[in-house]
Amino acid sequence: MKIPIIGLEFSEEEKKALTEILESKRITRDGWTDTFQEAFAEFLNVKYCATVCSGTVALFIGLKALGIRNGEKVVIPAMSFMATIDAVLLAGGIPVVVDVDEYYTMDVNQLEDAVKKYRPRVVIPVHLYGQPADMENIMFLADRYGFFVLEDCAQAHGAEFKGKKVGAWGHLSAFSFYASKNVPMGEGGALTTNDESLFKEVKKWIDFGEHPAFNVKITEFQAAIGTLQLRKLKERNERRRNIARIYTENLKGLCEVPEEREGAYHVYHLYTLRHKERDRLVEHLRSKGIDARVYYTYLLHELRNAEALPTPKAERFKREVFSIPVHPFLKEEEVLYIIESLKEVL
Ligand SMILES: Cc1ncc(COP(=O)(O)O)c(C=O)c1O
Repeated sequence: MKIPIIGLEFSEEEKKALTEILESKRITRDGWTDTFQEAFAEFLNVKYCATVCSGTVALFIGLKALGIRNGEKVVIPAMSFMATIDAVLLAGGIPVVVDVDEYYTMDVNQLEDAVKKYRPRVVIPVHLYGQPADMENIMFLADRYGFFVLEDCAQAHGAEFKGKKVGAWGHLSAFSFYASKNVPMGEGGALTTNDESLFKEVKKWIDFGEHPAFNVKITEFQAAIGTLQLRKLKERNERRRNIARIYTENLKGLCEVPEEREGAYHVYHLYTLRHKERDRLVEHLRSKGIDARVYYTYLLHELRNAEALPTPKAERFKREVFSIPVHPFLKEEEVLYIIESLKEVL
């Protein structure tokens, strides 16, 4: 068996849409881009959405729109994909890294310590692996101390906390539509907000003229695929959650299985477990054709030599985490094969 970590499925409808775009010759920003932006805003229940070419660019523009100037502090969690810290550095901010909690998202107690010490302009919670960060407490601290919240939702399309979708909590939010994401376009990103004046700032980085800016637009092909994939997101997230439930039922007690935060709707972009002998398990799974991987082999402050508060949890998790395929196109026998293969070495 060969079981990849990423699953993709495209329908006849999607192929037809791409052909129609080719035939119309309207291949750049046109109807599909508007359709996607409206559909995504409606899905999240936010007022504004603007597409850009990647999640990294969405984070960068988000920081710029929030007025980051050289040398201002931005608090980020220790565990994420490198884009979270790179966007801060590219925007001229100084990253300050805090530890994660047992759900792999920003530790809010440490966040408060960091805020008191560093007075950041922006805080970026990351909804890692598809699990929402503790947005209620993060927004409470934002009100109390006066910082902006830029959500990194790259891995959490459709995730909810206390009935509200991620991407609708912060002042601004950034999404990625990279091929592996729960809504894939190939490449792509978006910013969402309920704040009209922030949205205007975002648009200055997309519709040229106001100040120097890169071209960050997406093509109609990406927007069409995104629109049609978005329609299937809810059902696919449910499927991911079902597979996750089967893994958890079978592996609890043998590995540290992912726990869901109370009030969270986790969308399992990745199903990530922990075990002290992680490397041996991953090697075994890979030898059996299962594309198990480690997300991530680094902590953000180590990767870019940034300032950090103590990060004991993240340091332990970095040595122990590994992810197994959880994409919605896994067959039942593949799910069982993965469980059996893991049990062989546990
Ligand atoms: C948490 C996180 N933030 C940001 C990004 C950056 O997105 P992109 O690859 O579209 O630039 C990614 C994914 O790649 C991610 O997983």
